[in-house]
Amino acid sequence: MTILTLSGLTKRYGAQTALDGVDLTLAAGERVALLGHNGAGKSTLMKLVLGLIPVDAGKVSVAGHAPGSSVARALTAYLPENAAFHPALTGREQIRHYLRLRGDDPAKADGLLERVGLGDAGRRRIGTYSKGMRQRIGLAQALIGAPRLMILDEPTSGLDPVSRREFYSLLDELSAAGTAILLSSHALSEVEARTDRIAILSDGRLVAEGSLPELRIRAALPLTVHLRPRDGQADQLASAFPEASMANGVLSFSCPATDKLAVMGRISGLAPQIDDFEVLPPSLDDIYSHISRRAA
Ligand SMILES: Nc1ncnc2c1ncn2[C@@H]1O[C@H](COP(=O)(O)OP(=O)(O)O)[C@@H](O)[C@H]1O
Ligand SMILES: [Mg+2]
Repeated sequence: MTILTLSGLTKRYGAQTALDGVDLTLAAGERVALLGHNGAGKSTLMKLVLGLIPVDAGKVSVAGHAPGSSVARALTAYLPENAAFHPALTGREQIRHYLRLRGDDPAKADGLLERVGLGDAGRRRIGTYSKGMRQRIGLAQALIGAPRLMILDEPTSGLDPVSRREFYSLLDELSAAGTAILLSSHALSEVEARTDRIAILSDGRLVAEGSLPELRIRAALPLTVHLRPRDGQADQLASAFPEASMANGVLSFSCPATDKLAVMGRISGLAPQIDDFEVLPPSLDDIYSHISRRAA
C-alpha cells in the first residue's frame, strides 16, 4: 500500500527553485533516507508533505489525501530539524503537554517514554538531557497518535554512534509495524544500511534513488588495493605492480571493481613476496559525493 506519493513536486522561493520536479513514493513500512547537501531542498520537501507551505507545481498525496488536510495530519508525524523542547520541563511533562495539545490522554506519556527508552529519565528535566535523549523525546512526541507516516528531519545529526544505533532500532520496530518513514540526512554514513531506499537530492533535483547496493553499482567507483611486501621484496613487488605507489612501506593502487578477480589472481601469483594485503570497497561517503558531484 502506498502511503506517500510525490509527483513533479516543485517549489520556488522568489527566483530560486528549491525543489524541481521531484517524484517519490513510500510504501507502508518502507524506510527511505532523503540525502542532500545543505540547501538541497530536504526540509522544503518535508514541509510540502506536511502541508506547511504550498506547492508551486506537482502534487503530494498522503494515502490519497491532500497534505495538511485533517486526515493527512492525523496520519502523519513530524520531527523538525533542531526540535527544541522546554529545558525546565521534565520529559514526562513535555510529552503530557503534547498529548493534551493533540486532544489525547496525558496518561499515555509513560508508555511513550518507555517505548523510546526514557522510562526513568522522564522524571528529569530536559535541560539535563544529552542530544540523543532529546532526539528520543522528539521521537516520543512523533509517536503520539500511532502515525502511518513519519517525517524526520535530520534526526541523527549530532548523535554518537551508539545513540544513532538505538534510534534506528526504534525506527526498525515502527517500520515492522507498517509505518512509512522518510528521514533526511546530509551524510550517507549516518543512514547506512538501516534504510530500505536512498533518495539523493542535489540543488532541488532528485539525482539518484535506489538501495545502497544499487547506488554502489551505479557509482562504479574503483576499489583500493594495499599490498605490504615481505622484507626485502619491496622493489620486486613494486615492479610487478607499476600502477601502484609506495607510501609508508605499503604499495597502493586503485582498480575498477570489475577487475577485482583479475587483481586477486595477480596477488596470489606473487604470494611469496607479499606479507599482507587489503582490498577496500569505496566508502559510503565516496559513493555519495561521487553521485552528488556528477549531478552538479
Ligand atoms: N523560507 C524560505 N525563504 C527563502 N528561501 C528558502 C526558504 N527556505 C528554504 N529556502 C532556500 O531553499 C533551498 C532549500 O532549502 P532547504 O529545503 O532548507 O534545504 P535542506 O533542508 O536540504 O538544507 C535553500 O537554498 C534555502 O536557502
Ligand atoms: Mg534542512
